[in-house]
Amino acid sequence: MVLYRIMLEDSSAAVTAHDGAAETAFVELARLKKDRGALILAHTYQLPEIQAAADLVGDSLELSRAAARTDARVIVFCGVRFMAETAKILAPDRTVLLPAEDAGCPMADSITAENLRDFKSRYPGRPVVTYINSTAEVKAESDWCCTSANALRVIEAVDSPEILCVPDRNLARWCQRNTTKKLVWWDGFCLVHVRIDPEDARAAKAKYPDALLLAHPECEPEVLDLADHVLSTSQMLAFAARSPARRFLIATEAEVVGKLRRDHPDREFYTVGPAQHCVNMKKTRLADVLRALETGKPAVTLDLDLMARARRPIDRMLALG
Ligand code: 13P
Ligand code: SF4
Repeated sequence: MVLYRIMLEDSSAAVTAHDGAAETAFVELARLKKDRGALILAHTYQLPEIQAAADLVGDSLELSRAAARTDARVIVFCGVRFMAETAKILAPDRTVLLPAEDAGCPMADSITAENLRDFKSRYPGRPVVTYINSTAEVKAESDWCCTSANALRVIEAVDSPEILCVPDRNLARWCQRNTTKKLVWWDGFCLVHVRIDPEDARAAKAKYPDALLLAHPECEPEVLDLADHVLSTSQMLAFAARSPARRFLIATEAEVVGKLRRDHPDREFYTVGPAQHCVNMKKTRLADVLRALETGKPAVTLDLDLMARARRPIDRMLALG
């Protein structure tokens, strides 16, 4: 196997590829990126080839911030639809491309704008904090947005003792344990994270008693009970980078474990039980990114009024810093 590294022109992305076809693809990618004035954003659950092609790999919060501040003409969003929609809402005058058009998120789709209006009517006067894993229509009905990296800070910033939280019940339950405010939550969940079994977490801790267990707040409460730290995906990467620990158990999507192993070959990272993959996050391939840059499609389009309404809760969140 031939291993080589190429630095993409005008990009800090270091690329490790494995064959001539990949080399050709990355050279073509660099050309198209420069020609289109594009920025490639990738979530940490994306395939390694996509992470290698990206200008920034991050969690939902980091990628939203990057979309809000970029002056690139085109944003290629390698992630799922709600993430690309958020980028479009924050950069409405830019072209936002979602290379895998059918990459959705079942949790985001577990609540519609009509569901939320109905939920609000059952709890009048309570502000709504909506996880960024939601459609633009649901954000437009919300008071605040949050991500897994800042949910508790947002909850504390909201000027109300009672708050409605949608759509993730586990993120809300985690916040409820850490705030004196009363939270009422929607019964949504992430199929990938709820498959992480607390029995597997117990077994992994017994096998590696010196390891730190880092868990994503979308995991079930029984898993979070066993965690040393509850963190968003980028927070896990940052934590591992500065921690003196040598072994980690990682309770989130498997690609984070892959990235940690690549970033820190001298340390040990293990999934908790079988590796869990988000099939929607794995729909994006390098060929899709190249095609999107070549054709300018599929581009995210949203109604202007909808974007203005959906932007308010996101801006409030970003203003927290
Ligand atoms: P992050 O907030 O860590 O990016 O998580 C997003 C997500 O979709 C987790 O399932
Ligand atoms: Fe949605 Fe879960 Fe996939 Fe995240 S991991 S995009 S919440 S299905």
